[in-house]
Amino acid sequence: MQKKIMLLGSGELGKEFVIAAQRLGQHIIAVDSYDDAPAQQVADEREVINMLDGAELDRIVAKHKPDIIVPEIEAIRTERFYDYEKQGIRVVPSAKAANFTMNRKAIRDLAAKELGLRTADYRYANNLEELQAAVKAVGMPCVVKPLMSSSGKGQSVIRNEADIEKAWEYAQHGKRGDQTEVIAEAFVKFNSEITLLTVTQDSGITLFCLPIGHRQENGDYRESWQPAAISPEHLTEAQDMAAKVTRALTGAGIWGVEFFLADEGVYFSELSPRPHDTGMVTLAGTQNLSEFELHARAVLGLPIAEITHERNGASAVILADTEGSEPVFTGVEQVLAQPKADIRLFGKPIARPQRRMGVVLTYDGTGTNVDSIKDRAAELAQLVKVVTQVH
Ligand SMILES: Nc1ncnc2c1ncn2[C@@H]1O[C@H](COP(=O)(O)OP(=O)(O)O)[C@@H](O)[C@H]1O
Ligand SMILES: [Mg+2]
Repeated sequence: MQKKIMLLGSGELGKEFVIAAQRLGQHIIAVDSYDDAPAQQVADEREVINMLDGAELDRIVAKHKPDIIVPEIEAIRTERFYDYEKQGIRVVPSAKAANFTMNRKAIRDLAAKELGLRTADYRYANNLEELQAAVKAVGMPCVVKPLMSSSGKGQSVIRNEADIEKAWEYAQHGKRGDQTEVIAEAFVKFNSEITLLTVTQDSGITLFCLPIGHRQENGDYRESWQPAAISPEHLTEAQDMAAKVTRALTGAGIWGVEFFLADEGVYFSELSPRPHDTGMVTLAGTQNLSEFELHARAVLGLPIAEITHERNGASAVILADTEGSEPVFTGVEQVLAQPKADIRLFGKPIARPQRRMGVVLTYDGTGTNVDSIKDRAAELAQLVKVVTQVH
């Protein structure tokens, strides 16, 4: 049952996916825009191309003839996926899912209008005048995001009139591609936010992992922990919404479905049709199968009997603060000298300010306090420093 899997995007999440898939005997071609990306270091073959270039994608798909295409990032010419599906290639979780989620508009309209999920009130804007009208409609404070962007790029909060023009400019600088349109969303005063890892299967029911809590700063997550505190009512609401939206997008695989938990209920925020960065906490052994192992099984059509809660755990990111090559790490020994602590260093060849270079994992028994496990992860991550060769 060996399959040829083409992984589009070869970061740290892709790397763990490759390892999980290889443990099931698979053959992986890892693709990225630069050479020696983390997943390429453990894959069978590699390709370096611009994945937003449809002709380049076509070329490597024709060359390798993969059975399965597994996207790891959003910035791919996903319109090509429909064709690959017609050729008989399995696109994970589906061409529709990958294509819809690369643009905030497609997924938001599907969730709010077609499926009737509760989301923040929102409007779109194609220019500054439209943004002014949009802000009037949704009210202040509100959040402005380019339709195509990730990791908080181009995203800002409008608190007063003077912020509107700044938010427009900021979005134009942070956007991916040439799509100028933005979304303005009412600011949700949430008590916490969660990622609900959801697994859809070819045959078999939709499964849910225990919710993952996370803290965001400057557009990226800093710590994540599992399980996150949630009321049974909110959990049921979130699971229902995740089941609906993944069913509409079709396909098999793991999904990271993001929600805000507020006094008035649960808001659907967005979702990734692939492993989620906050889900790296599952590498702490919080479950019988990590999110990467779940993804590998689901995309191969292999059964998943159950997902069990094995430990409480947390992850905290290790960020670089300078630019440079040949990064090395200090403080790793101090982390590993601690009980119930582990580390992943991604092997990225270049460091940049704020670039995620590794993650610290901490854990304890299922009955223990998740908050203190999270604090321990954050403290240990602070001990690790990235040192680079400055050019
Ligand atoms: N409408 C909103 N109200 C309050 N906070 C928000 C809102 N939208 C986004 N955020 C905050 O910004 C973070 C990133 O937004 P998100 O839509 O998930 O963008 P990205 O695709 O960059 O992850 C969220 O995790 C949340 O903390
Ligand atoms: Mg997000």
